[in-house]
Amino acid sequence: MIIRNPQSGFVHPLASDITSRQAYLNRRRWMLSMAAGATVAGAMAWVPQARAATRGPGVLARLPGGESAVAGARTIEKPTPYKDATTYNNFYEFGMDKSDPARHAHRMKVRPWTVSVEGLVGKPRVFDLEDLLRLAPMEERIYRMRCVEGWSMVIPWVGYSLSHLIEAVQPLGSAKYIEFHTLVDPDTMPGVRARVLEWPYVEGLRMDEARHPLTLLTLGMYGEVLPNQNGAPVRMVIPWKYGFKNGKSVVRIRFVEQQPATSWAKSAPDEYGFYSNVNPDVHHPRWSQATERRIGEGGLNARRLKTQLFNGYEPQVGQLYTGMDLRRFF
Ligand code: MTE
Repeated sequence: MIIRNPQSGFVHPLASDITSRQAYLNRRRWMLSMAAGATVAGAMAWVPQARAATRGPGVLARLPGGESAVAGARTIEKPTPYKDATTYNNFYEFGMDKSDPARHAHRMKVRPWTVSVEGLVGKPRVFDLEDLLRLAPMEERIYRMRCVEGWSMVIPWVGYSLSHLIEAVQPLGSAKYIEFHTLVDPDTMPGVRARVLEWPYVEGLRMDEARHPLTLLTLGMYGEVLPNQNGAPVRMVIPWKYGFKNGKSVVRIRFVEQQPATSWAKSAPDEYGFYSNVNPDVHHPRWSQATERRIGEGGLNARRLKTQLFNGYEPQVGQLYTGMDLRRFF
């Protein structure tokens, strides 16, 4: 098989010669699963994507991830049932109710898809989905996700550290922050007609946070491609921050010098800070952050779990914030 390396432009004779065996096997498994997925998708063209996804894994194209060597990449906690993870969502472009994304997101067109990487970089580039799927070996990361509203989930995501993409575009020394812009399509997204937020949904990270190996460029969950309501075809997952930092359906990544003005911080600066690190001692004006309810475990009366600083990822990320007043920089 002839493969052109997107970075160098060299043509290599065989994928297995230029990648580690694990990466090669991952990629091969992915290509086989995409081939199988295409058949499934063809046969099930009449099933709305979101409805199909809520029936459980086994319907969307497979996207398996290999074992991750990144510290903290796999919590041993039980993953949230797939049905809950795909029917209890925040994706305001499709409506305010938790059930709206699963009902409406099948209308979003996720292919073809491109992510434009621009701003203060030496090699700006427009990645199509195939480029992103090839950029680095897929890994499975089982992360806790804590929403600022007081609930949490445990999700087996599939993707790779965003740092792989960052290295590919060679950021300039002046790039101090990174911005994520997500899709706005009034034809398929009924929620963008409401002015709940300024669209597009914009999130951001400091460069050292973006480069941290736990920061995941995410293309799948539960061994399959992302369902639309969970941010297909590509989203962010930063496990030590509140869920709203995880921009869904990303179309643009910008490297910038100044701290980005993010959507939630713009809409209510006293409620949502730029950092939004999970912190049981710093409360949102309407929601205590001391405890959390695990979705899928015992309903509203379930015992609440104690929320942990940095969502339990302090050993891995605590040093990013040494000397910072976490009450001021919330
Ligand atoms: N991304 C976009 N584009 N639009 C949104 O409304 N909601 C955020 C985040 N990403 C949101 C988004 C919030 S508030 C949360 S809690 C998570 O997505 C929810 O992710 P999930 O539905 O996959 O659990």
